[in-house]
Amino acid sequence: MGFLQSKRALVMGVASNRSIAWGIAQAIHRQGGELAFTYQEERLAERVRKLAAAVDSQRVLPCNVAQDESITSVFEQLAASWDTLDVVVHAIAYAPREALEGDFSQVSREAFHIAHDISSFSLTAVSRHAATLMANGGSIVTLTYLGAERVVPNYNVMGLAKASLEANVRYLAADLGAKNIRVNGISAGPIKTLAAAGIPEFRSFLEHARNTSPLKRNVDIHEVGNAAAFLCSELASGITGEILYVDAGYSTIGMST
Ligand SMILES: NC(=O)c1ccc[n+]([C@@H]2O[C@H](COP(=O)([O-])OP(=O)(O)OC[C@H]3O[C@@H](n4cnc5c(N)ncnc54)[C@H](O)[C@@H]3O)[C@@H](O)[C@H]2O)c1
Repeated sequence: MGFLQSKRALVMGVASNRSIAWGIAQAIHRQGGELAFTYQEERLAERVRKLAAAVDSQRVLPCNVAQDESITSVFEQLAASWDTLDVVVHAIAYAPREALEGDFSQVSREAFHIAHDISSFSLTAVSRHAATLMANGGSIVTLTYLGAERVVPNYNVMGLAKASLEANVRYLAADLGAKNIRVNGISAGPIKTLAAAGIPEFRSFLEHARNTSPLKRNVDIHEVGNAAAFLCSELASGITGEILYVDAGYSTIGMST
């Protein structure tokens, strides 16, 4: 029996079979969890439905986190068939392409706003809806990156949005803890996904992490998936407000040989 047996999990952020959210969904499925998915826009619907079917899920709903009514609608639809919810995986981020290159100081007000709205505020909005369904407590997991704490070339405004997201994890954990809802983040090493492809020179992120990390390799979506499944489960019942690094140890290195 898996350690997420009979737990109900909503996974937000699958765009392809390379998505970190897909690695997490597969790990939750392996551990016996029941899954629902959201997709951002219609062009992704069919692809996400096929992936969902592979992990025995027919619950696939649209959700654009830029719109309050879209978030409200997902949780209303979920509540119609699920009386409780145990897990939410938030694997969503976006910044306009032009804000992910060039001089950081030139970032526009609009790009700054969008990056924070989609990549950080959405966690707050989703968590407050999820909490109403988490009658028995629950676990919320989001995805962050080292660019929140250190300067990484081209990551620019997304670094600020991830810093906000990490603070969001701590404030939500404090707010929802009395309801036995835990909120944590995973800081993943670089992985080639659709979102990563939007960052110029992303290949050098992979190369640098591979050469410098203690494990001398990159991580993959399955390793992030397993760590997320752990955080979602009772095995992590004492952990909240934390950022867990799944980066082959890269973040621990000050200078490599
Ligand atoms: N790939 C990496 O190297 C890496 C490393 C650390 C953290 N992360 C984080 O992991 C998370 C998942 O990204 P990924 O790398 O798997 O890429 P991905 O492109 O597969 O996933 C990003 C998801 O965000 C969704 N999204 C964007 N705007 C949205 C909106 N308005 N409404 C709803 N959904 C929206 C996309 O549809 C997509 O499903 C992101 O938060 C990302 O910052 C990625």
